[in-house]
Amino acid sequence: MTQDVNSARKWEEDYERQTDGWDLGGPTPAFKRLISSRQLIPGRMIVLGAGRGHDAREFARHGFQVTAVDFASQAVQEMQRLASPEAPVEILQHDIFTLPESLNNSFDYVLEYTCFCAIDPKRRSEYADLVRRLLKPNGIYIDLAFPLDGRKGGPPFAVSASEIVKLFQERGFKLISRKKPDESVSARRHAEELFIFQKGLQVSTTQTLS
Ligand SMILES: C[S@@+](CC[C@H](N)C(=O)[O-])C[C@H]1O[C@@H](n2cnc3c(N)ncnc32)[C@H](O)[C@@H]1O
Repeated sequence: MTQDVNSARKWEEDYERQTDGWDLGGPTPAFKRLISSRQLIPGRMIVLGAGRGHDAREFARHGFQVTAVDFASQAVQEMQRLASPEAPVEILQHDIFTLPESLNNSFDYVLEYTCFCAIDPKRRSEYADLVRRLLKPNGIYIDLAFPLDGRKGGPPFAVSASEIVKLFQERGFKLISRKKPDESVSARRHAEELFIFQKGLQVSTTQTLS
């Protein structure tokens, strides 16, 4: 048994032992609301640490061209099992940190939920660099940051709003909006916040997303 979060094996053991309590069993309510608000124009999206792929399929069902990445074989098998023709998703079994350079500047959107809190905190700068390289110019990073209340068991690490804002602003991202969702599941209420950043804006924008 390994607790090394950099190893796919750690996560595979969580899926095997069913210690995968992060899985909501369906799409994340805050993302469903974001989709229904029609503020995002469908485009190419990559979902990092996609798990069973509930959010990836939800965006795909609404016209986004989605690539879902996870390095745990059980997560990938589950995404394959749950695949649906109405929600086509490209499934990649890969470590996010070694995604090929051919994917650089390829995506209109990068989406994450409980992936940032799952990586080794020492790799957060590397993670922000990764998001930057995956996005097209002016691409959008959608981050439902959790857990923001310092709880142990994350999974498995706490995150901080100020750290996230700093990480992305110092890489030239503009913070377009931030909001604590009304729709959070009860155990996560007040412990998560939806951040939307835009990469490398050339001109100032009055666009607001809420
Ligand atoms: C806490 S789970 C969240 C899964 C999913 N986002 C959800 O909300 O249900 C974290 C996921 O990220 C994956 N993961 C962690 N580090 C990764 C890495 N370096 N590369 C690819 N996947 C990774 C794990 O295998 C796991 O499926």
